[in-house]
Amino acid sequence: KRVMVIFGGQSTEHEVSRLSATSIINNIDKNKFDVVMVGITKEGRWLPYNGPVEKIASGEWEEIAINGLIESMPKSENIINAIVSRRASSEALTNSDERRTVDVVFPVLHGCKGEDGTIQGLFEMAGVPYVGCGVLGSALGMDKIFAKIMFEKAGIPQADYLYFTRKEIKEDVNSAANAIEQKFKYPVFIKPSNAGSSVGVSKAHNRKELIEALNLAAKYDRKILVEEFINGREVECAVLGNDNPIASTVGEIIPSNEFYDYNAKYIDGKSKTVIPANLPAETISKIRQYAVKAFKILDCSGLSRVDFFVHKESGEVYINEINTMPGFTDISMYPMLWEASGISYSELIERLIDLAIE
Ligand code: DAL
Ligand code: MG
Repeated sequence: KRVMVIFGGQSTEHEVSRLSATSIINNIDKNKFDVVMVGITKEGRWLPYNGPVEKIASGEWEEIAINGLIESMPKSENIINAIVSRRASSEALTNSDERRTVDVVFPVLHGCKGEDGTIQGLFEMAGVPYVGCGVLGSALGMDKIFAKIMFEKAGIPQADYLYFTRKEIKEDVNSAANAIEQKFKYPVFIKPSNAGSSVGVSKAHNRKELIEALNLAAKYDRKILVEEFINGREVECAVLGNDNPIASTVGEIIPSNEFYDYNAKYIDGKSKTVIPANLPAETISKIRQYAVKAFKILDCSGLSRVDFFVHKESGEVYINEINTMPGFTDISMYPMLWEASGISYSELIERLIDLAIE
């Protein structure tokens, strides 16, 4: 089968995507799958790439791809058109002497325009099978506020919350702050509703920090979520499947920072993961049930990683968020959780592709 791996993208998680895609390409079973690579630059150019895989993580792929654009290759803009027409895509994405269609697309893209239903809509239009959640599941999973509304519906415990629009923050940040202070004790978390890898997320300990945090989050999104602080251990559970999804074992993140932020996740490399998490059996079982429940209520398919807090004093479980295209880097929880649950990285990729096609 011919698999088109798309990496990069226009979101704040562009770099993470390049790391995720590198791992996926390195671990995919080359005897079973033919990989076609397409990178999306930060500016949104789609570039076919057939250079070395190692150059994806470093960013050098982009220049190689641009230099490699030959006359018969489509201009980047046309790749969208090419995907939309399957016949065109068979011609556009291969060399002129070998014309084959792409059987499935694996969009290894995190964040906006990759994990939020937009690119999934494009694949739907094209009638091309793709790995992961559909339009609705992706959109609900990406929008933290809507995900919370759905979790509430499903009766999954979570941090209490408020939300604001950018306009409300811009026009009168003080009334927003008053409303927050009336409802919650410090510290509180402030998050752009649509953003991943904790970009634009802050923990505010006082009013000054709160105002700064609201302004910062408003730079990233039109909607801003404010949540009460849950003094919890951070645990994660992987879900795999379509209508009958299964949940992996549970892993715990031991952050090197005050919370598991972008720096702790990808830069300093000091955060540790513990798999399986050292938790009572009934807590693990509750987390796995909630993970599947969350996956189903959001209409997910293929995969998702569901993140939770286990309260440090009460031991209660609270859902934090769902990631419909979780990180796939060498240090990412999603593949490691399946590895620990008996599914190797390459088998996992194969299952994801099968789930996309079934
Ligand atoms: N958003 C990042 C990639 C994650 O959740 O793993
Ligand atoms: Mg997360």
